Amino acid sequence: MIEDLKFIAKTSGEIIRSYFGKTFSIEFKSDMKNLVTQADKESEKAIIDFIKNKYPSHGILAEESGSQSIGADYLWVVDPLDGTSNFAHGLPIFSVSIGLQFKGETVMGVVYDVMRDKLYSAEKGSGAFRDDFKLTVSKNSMIEESFLVTGFPYNISENPENAFEKFIAMTKASRAVRRLGSAAIDFCYVAEGVFDGFWEVFLNPWDICAGKLLVEEAGGMVTDFCGEPITIFNNTILASNGKIHQKMISLLSER
Ligand code: IPD
Ligand code: CA
Ligand code: CA
Repeated sequence: MIEDLKFIAKTSGEIIRSYFGKTFSIEFKSDMKNLVTQADKESEKAIIDFIKNKYPSHGILAEESGSQSIGADYLWVVDPLDGTSNFAHGLPIFSVSIGLQFKGETVMGVVYDVMRDKLYSAEKGSGAFRDDFKLTVSKNSMIEESFLVTGFPYNISENPENAFEKFIAMTKASRAVRRLGSAAIDFCYVAEGVFDGFWEVFLNPWDICAGKLLVEEAGGMVTDFCGEPITIFNNTILASNGKIHQKMISLLSER
């Protein structure tokens, strides 16, 4: 089944790539910050058509079209284009993220980094991979030497202080903090040891599902800001190599 996730993530990634740098329609969701493009919609349609055709009894939770048969044992959790703002402005950092849950537990996840043509995948209990290369999180245990990543929610104007204060604290304490604009790719970079840690508030299940499994299968930790276990429906996430987790919790809880 993991081959199906890989196949459809790559197929929809090709659809997105065919629009990159070309003309496509753009609509606004909640406000001028939150976009949805023709590529988001076509990518999602390809994924949903594939699932409905091959696994008609499975449930689907997808960003642009909501949920279908959500009580089924299997649930596909789909972000058809993670990093829409980057895509719309011509910055080549965006992905397709697909997680598969069985009875509420994520059992498989794939993230396709579209412009780098890298496919990240994980199956519960079998490790995490970038294409055929097995991934492990970084070994760094010093916050001062840590390379971190974060993101900001679209509704940042409504509660700006909290997120910015955390950003300042982390930036002062670490080597550097980056903001790439695709949460799914942020998780992948933690899984492969590029970043030592990633935190964000107000994420959605489709931003979290595949990436969380990738980090865990690469030997890392994913919790809330207090170190408590999370499901994909918790919107506050802290992902790390495990070694700097406690230090990140203290920095996040001080603000
Ligand atoms: C967004 C990206 C971004 C994160 C936002 C997400 P979208 O997803 O993952 O990195 O900071 O919170 O909503 O809208 O591009 O799929
Ligand atoms: Ca997203
Ligand atoms: Ca999206």
